Amino acid sequence: MADSDRHLLLSRIRDVPDWPEPGVVFKDITPLLRDPAAFRTVTELLAGIGGEQVDVVVGIEARGFILGAPVAHRLGAGFVPIRKQGKLPWETSTASYQLEYGEATIEVHRDAFTPGERVLIVDDVLATGGTVRATVDLVRGSGADVVGVGVLMELGFLNGRDKLADVRVEALLTL
Ligand code: PRP
Repeated sequence: MADSDRHLLLSRIRDVPDWPEPGVVFKDITPLLRDPAAFRTVTELLAGIGGEQVDVVVGIEARGFILGAPVAHRLGAGFVPIRKQGKLPWETSTASYQLEYGEATIEVHRDAFTPGERVLIVDDVLATGGTVRATVDLVRGSGADVVGVGVLMELGFLNGRDKLADVRVEALLTL
């Protein structure tokens, strides 16, 4: 990425201390989404990770929807939402993963993918990696191929990549 793009994106991500709980510094991307040049830059760069041969872009609720949908549009691909448990209306496949305290479950519609389809997974943040790990497993469980994972930012100190050694993961920014 060009230095000018990196500086643009970094300047549009706001640190919010002690949110949602004390000791956590939340990375707020709403200033980036609000800036047309920054939003377009992120969309173009994430689309570039997928390349030409993407059939489906998967976006992970909720901020992954905002980034994933324009990436799909740009690639001429379809879009599939991965949602938190209980939000999808039809038959689902589910995957659960560990949080620091407790467990989370995500779901996708059972007819979302066709075996052999090429899938790019998009989200805003790679943190501990549990969400992307579960998403990769859901996509592969359907018989589709994960061509890559593209995230706006990776929180490197949380070592999420340790859970993702079997998939190509690209982050526009490592924080
Ligand atoms: C955040 C983020 C990723 C996930 C990363 O989502 O958008 O999806 O956490 O965390 P992990 O790598 O430790 O699994 P969140 O659950 O906060 O959902 P939201 O986008 O609906 O706020």
